Amino acid sequence: MTRYSRIAGTGSYLPPRRLTNADLVAELALQGIETSDDWIVERTGIRARHFAGPEVNASDLALQAARHALEAAGVAAAEIDLIIVATSTPDMVFPSTATILQHKLGIAGCPAFDLQAVCSGFVYALTVADAMIKTGTANKALVIGAEVFSRILDFTDRTTCVLFGDGAGAVVLEASDMPGILATDLHADGKHVGILCVPGTVSGGKVTGDPLLKMDGQAVFKLAVGVLEDAARATLAKAGRTTDDIDWLIPHQANIRIMQSTARKLKLPMDKVIVTVDQHGNTSAASIPLALDAAVRSGKVKPGDTLMLEGVGGGFTWGAVLLDY
Ligand code: ACO
Repeated sequence: MTRYSRIAGTGSYLPPRRLTNADLVAELALQGIETSDDWIVERTGIRARHFAGPEVNASDLALQAARHALEAAGVAAAEIDLIIVATSTPDMVFPSTATILQHKLGIAGCPAFDLQAVCSGFVYALTVADAMIKTGTANKALVIGAEVFSRILDFTDRTTCVLFGDGAGAVVLEASDMPGILATDLHADGKHVGILCVPGTVSGGKVTGDPLLKMDGQAVFKLAVGVLEDAARATLAKAGRTTDDIDWLIPHQANIRIMQSTARKLKLPMDKVIVTVDQHGNTSAASIPLALDAAVRSGKVKPGDTLMLEGVGGGFTWGAVLLDY
């Protein structure tokens, strides 16, 4: 019998501090940084984002999202035999946020590791977990995207600080004799490192270089639109499906215009696209599982629906996962 992996439950968590564009515009104005609700909405579709408090780390957000996913799946934490946390804003340089989360979940022994592919992190993590389940290395995996991007934002740079937010999303992925994940497609091209990065590092007890996010927005935009179409088509081809089979497109939530453009290229109407960027901003690796959980809990995504999950981010990295929910 063929062994597949299937999503058994989803969960998410947003820190309680919610800033509307008006709140952020007012805070930035105090530092002499000029922006507006109109500019942010028109260029990005973002209306609000959540920021974690100073004492809250990625593992804390991941813990809440994981608990919600475990509850939805009807799975006890003790049954989990693999934890992968996709994050670019880990609690510490080491150990991994996944091991910190494992301890917070009150479990021990199973493999736990972080996966760093920036905004593609969740589709990368889901692909790795799928492979580990299919080969029998794991039976029930927690796959999480968790980020505190507010920590790495330069609040004097209006071209980036209005775009991002904090949050976490999780799924329980379990072995099944029914598909599940149908096909995956991952890519990277390191020649684009410079257009989206946090170039600083820790060395000799000090931060060296700039530890805040830098982005060439227009270059990222152009690359993102092209690779999202390619990844979707490649994944559909691997699964022997077509765009007509997609019930819901759940893309990385960076900018509504990127999503509209991708949907147009795939000839999908926007009412088949899950959009949460308006309420969450760009939460990097957390954005896809946050959007998935919102869509499941609102009743949009139903059992049996075919979902195309797609990410693109720093590296450059990109990829897609096609699955039957
Ligand atoms: N408020 C007001 N004006 C602004 C702001 C702001 N917050 N930011 C920029 N502007 C101004 C610029 O200074 C510029 O003014 P000028 O014409 O006088 O020079 C003008 O607005 C236009 O700026 P552009 O950069 O050309 O704006 P654009 O339409 O390209 O939108 C944006 C910028 C939103 C960043 C867009 O390029 C984008 O979304 N890019 C993709 C970003 C993305 O997807 N990133 C995430 C990838 S995921 C990851 O891995 C983290």
